Amino acid sequence: MIQLSVNLNKVALLRNSRGSDNPGPLQAAVTCIEAGAAGITLHWREDRRHAREDDVRQLLALCKQRGVEFNLEGDPRPELVALALALRPTQLTLVPVTPGEVTSDHGYDLPRQGPEIAPVISAARAAGIRVAVFMDANAERIAGARELGADRVEIYTEPYAAAFGTERAAFELGRVRDSARAAARAGLGVNAGHDLNLDNLPTLAREVPEIVEASIGHALIADALYLGLAETVRRYRRAGEGIDVPSVKTK
Ligand code: PXP
Repeated sequence: MIQLSVNLNKVALLRNSRGSDNPGPLQAAVTCIEAGAAGITLHWREDRRHAREDDVRQLLALCKQRGVEFNLEGDPRPELVALALALRPTQLTLVPVTPGEVTSDHGYDLPRQGPEIAPVISAARAAGIRVAVFMDANAERIAGARELGADRVEIYTEPYAAAFGTERAAFELGRVRDSARAAARAGLGVNAGHDLNLDNLPTLAREVPEIVEASIGHALIADALYLGLAETVRRYRRAGEGIDVPSVKTK
């Protein structure tokens, strides 16, 4: 079963577009938690185009109060590392950022980039924070995160999602499955994320049982426009159990 961590960056983006406080990520997080989300994720970018530092503080406090996980994502820049060490989220997911990117589009290249993240991994783990490293679905490389001391990897699932329903689907699913197995064999927990939705999540849950958590943002918030946030979260939870659920058809 894949546990759902709802990424609320898109709610913050909508709020920021009017410079007001509506819609508020905090209220959205309450709704998601009450609808059964296992956790909340925020990707706090340096340019603050969606989540702000006060969002991280507020949502993390809410998650602690409600007993659900808070996953802080981001590149290991000093201000983010300092905030993580001060606030101690359940999980810190380290994500490489390329200036100007629209969204994260690749994982860490290990061992080449190991020295950039090894000290952050050990400092966060010493503070009691679970650390995940965002990685491409590459079975030969993925265990490199364990050598750096990480607890988990998050497998980048955009290629799987893009191939879903096409002739490349089995190939891309196989890459995720092989990577998840290699990670598990190395003693790593396995998360997944990027472009997951109600159509492609059930297959992943059934075929790759090593995956324990998926952080999902864009498609979930888009679906919520049609279904409402609470009903959307309930459907993603079932999808994470490997159950096929009705998705929103926009075409
Ligand atoms: N995982 C990581 C590392 C991400 O950067 C993002 C996007 O913020 C996600 C998961 C969620 O991707 P999506 O918004 O496509 O569900």
